[in-house]
Amino acid sequence: MKDPTLFDQIGGDALRAVITDFYDRLFADVMIGFMFQGKPKAQLVQREWEFTAGFLGAPNIGYSGRPIRTAHAQHTIFGGHFERRVQILRETMADHAVPEAVQQAWLEHTEALRAQVTRDKGSECADTKELAPKLSIAAPENPDRPIKLGRR
Ligand code: HEM
Repeated sequence: MKDPTLFDQIGGDALRAVITDFYDRLFADVMIGFMFQGKPKAQLVQREWEFTAGFLGAPNIGYSGRPIRTAHAQHTIFGGHFERRVQILRETMADHAVPEAVQQAWLEHTEALRAQVTRDKGSECADTKELAPKLSIAAPENPDRPIKLGRR
């Protein structure tokens, strides 16, 4: 008999329950929830399920979504956003007692896709070299001068 796949270890129904909860948390999240507003949650859950079932070794599952790079290209996703999604995934998997091997494979797979989702390598929020200088706060000419609030 063939060894059970990671998909067999979690099971399709349990995987769907995890992903449904994951997307509930993503949509409600104070940091990244705004990106999901107005998006079709049930469709995203279905596509994420197909995608995840596929790399966990489920046989004969087709992915009906867009390539990961294309799906995220219209959004400005910083490294911090990416980390936040990873953290929510971690918490969701832990709360559902997802088998350890599945958790590890899911996190590794996510990390391997980082460059398709954001140009940031870590949790920085620069995304592009072009954008970074505009985002950084210019150093004041005289840092000791007290900052005046209100009308000048
Ligand atoms: C490796 C990590 C990620 C994976 C595997 C992933 C997976 C997916 C999948 C399968 C879809 C559906 C694509 C489709 O409908 O054609 C999707 C859409 C989406 N993802 Fe991700 N995602 C990742 C990272 C992120 C991050 C970090 C964010 C934001 C913080 C994000 C935000 C979104 C949004 C907003 C959509 C809806 C796209 C749209 O229609 O505008 N994703 N993602």
